[in-house]
Amino acid sequence: GQSIAVFTSGGDACGMNGAVRACVRMAVYLGCQAFMIREGYQGMVQGGDQFVKATWASVSSIIHVGGTIIGSARCKEFMEREGRKKAAYNLVQREINRLIVIGGDGSLTGANIFRIEWTGLLDDLVASGKITPQQREKCKDLHIVGVVGSIDNDFCGTDLTIGTDSALHRITEAIDSIASTAYSHQRIFIMEVMGRHCGYLAMVSGIISEADYVFCPEAPPPLDWHERLCSKLQKERECGQRLNIIIIAEGANDLNGEPITAQMVKQVIFDRLGWDSRITVLGHVQRGGATSAYDRILACRMGAEATVAVLESTATTTPVVIVLVNNQIERIPLMGAVERTQAVNKALQDKDWAKAIALRGVA
Ligand code: F6P
Repeated sequence: GQSIAVFTSGGDACGMNGAVRACVRMAVYLGCQAFMIREGYQGMVQGGDQFVKATWASVSSIIHVGGTIIGSARCKEFMEREGRKKAAYNLVQREINRLIVIGGDGSLTGANIFRIEWTGLLDDLVASGKITPQQREKCKDLHIVGVVGSIDNDFCGTDLTIGTDSALHRITEAIDSIASTAYSHQRIFIMEVMGRHCGYLAMVSGIISEADYVFCPEAPPPLDWHERLCSKLQKERECGQRLNIIIIAEGANDLNGEPITAQMVKQVIFDRLGWDSRITVLGHVQRGGATSAYDRILACRMGAEATVAVLESTATTTPVVIVLVNNQIERIPLMGAVERTQAVNKALQDKDWAKAIALRGVA
């Protein structure tokens, strides 16, 4: 049978393990040899025991575990052609030319560059005598499939990325804990949630926690937000509310693109109302912990489909990324989705908020 390899890359996310497990088990089920590559592209460049032959049993008891048990790393070497040549050598040595990458848009872009260069890399390896023409022939095309793992839900073309739901569980637990102490002392809490370029976690957190105000990157508040925020807080108190929750995405900014930070919000409330408030930065707590039921199922569905897709791929197949659309698992062109995701980030940089939202909204 064929050999496939799966690896995780970029920031970890709950559900990555479930996806690795599903990829491996579907490969075994279909009579293929599955490899897991440790430490992402770094392991692929290093070779040796970073390549692990996987069996049905080697992925037992990981579906519930957060993070990625096979590791993830940022790899400078893979950014260079020389590094990618080493990675190609390590793959060809094991007769692997089918890869499943579980990661964010950056990791998926890296895989596509590798795919485009593949033939040239193999030619170089043959020319320098590192691999034989027969080896080259056996692995002549590189087939890649993407699965998106990211707690930010920042990838265009999918309703949800793996890890988002678990992160929301962590955030919900944290906000519930904060709310009980805030209620007792009639306090205002400003909670910072993750999401560099994407306000999804912030928006959903705001709804589930009945927050009074949400700051997120794609929808900066009006320039007079200071006044609006404070009058909202005041009104809530007049209505008898004992606490206030304000959610702020770590990447929040104003209409001029200037960052809005939790500390700034705290200061505004103090200066205008003379009210004290507390800040809680949730940080990496959001990325860890047990994997939610939904992320486990999503990972199983996406991982299994990724293996089928990578095995079905031929020399003329456009590389795909596995997505969820209307609760169905689908394959869509990888680079179209990556490019749209990157266009959103560019629109945010250009302070074109309407464009960012429009790009993100189209499935
Ligand atoms: O993309 C996932 C994410 O958790 C973002 O929400 C956050 O901005 C970033 O990664 C943090 O990166 P690091 O773990 O490198 O500090």
